[in-house]
Amino acid sequence: MNLIDERVVELLRAGGGIVSGERLCGELEMTRAAVWKHIDALRKAGYRIDSCPGSGYRLAAAPDVPFPCEVRNGLKTTCLGAAVEFLETTDSTNRQMAARARAGAPHGSVLVADAQTAGRGRMARQWFSPPGSNLYFSLLLRPDVVPMKAPQLALLAGLALARAVETLCPELTPKVKWPNDVFLNGKKLSGILCDMDAETDRVHYLVVGVGVNVNLSADEFPPEISGLATSLRAELGKTVPRTALLTAFLNAFEPIYESWLADGLAAWLPELGEKSHLAGRELAVEVGRESLHGRAVGLSCNGGLLLDCGGTSPRELVCGDVRIV
Ligand code: BTN
Repeated sequence: MNLIDERVVELLRAGGGIVSGERLCGELEMTRAAVWKHIDALRKAGYRIDSCPGSGYRLAAAPDVPFPCEVRNGLKTTCLGAAVEFLETTDSTNRQMAARARAGAPHGSVLVADAQTAGRGRMARQWFSPPGSNLYFSLLLRPDVVPMKAPQLALLAGLALARAVETLCPELTPKVKWPNDVFLNGKKLSGILCDMDAETDRVHYLVVGVGVNVNLSADEFPPEISGLATSLRAELGKTVPRTALLTAFLNAFEPIYESWLADGLAAWLPELGEKSHLAGRELAVEVGRESLHGRAVGLSCNGGLLLDCGGTSPRELVCGDVRIV
């Protein structure tokens, strides 16, 4: 898919029905033979385009691949997704987005890949990233905030993803697991990895990387995570459009992000509490070299986990690796 292919899709979609070859030639300033080559390339990329002899072309169906023109088609945002890039395969969308951020990519840029060869999770873990079924994307943010507030964005991205899942699959009840996961029926559906570049009192940029198990079937997970992870398809018994999930995420996240930037986290604490995967549970938490045991009693106003370890007041954790015991 190149930029002209995408333009052809947009013209066919804007036309609504049959779009004449003449119109396409005029808009694209090219010959009929050149237009046909782009139609052919689009068909090879999975688009169903009907040729209507004597009258033109009609877009009958689009593949569920997050090509930029497909993502833009569902967006209702002003900033997030203003620039979208799709890669068939890459090492890590977070790594690639960080390089683009250093080169000056604008706030709201999105990089999405069909597959990753070195998808990264927290604590140097790998993120299983096979092609054709899941979502792997990174969103570039340039918030004018102090670095210590940045972890709140992983929580809020989790909230936006939970909302996006609810929009597409109202029968599901996704939960946000502090500090950076989304769980479904007790298993991990999505992980969020925030990479930050900052100085002591200023964030330069933040890359919010999101991996979602969308259409992987239960038997496709590697054995080491198969009991711990799930996908939307595994829970629902049917496939879910991953492009629509990406746009639903961006549509959900933008107002949350804007409100957070203007007024902070407080407005989102009640919903984070309702959707909490950890609330009331007994936990083992690794914080650096320290191992803590306690009961999750909520989130602090800073987005820290409040853990009742039996002392006079709960401990506020700003980061940690959490396991339910
Ligand atoms: C975790 O659970 O530890 C976080 C996993 C984050 C995975 C996503 S996939 C898209 C983006 N690119 C990466 O290399 N990682 C994140």
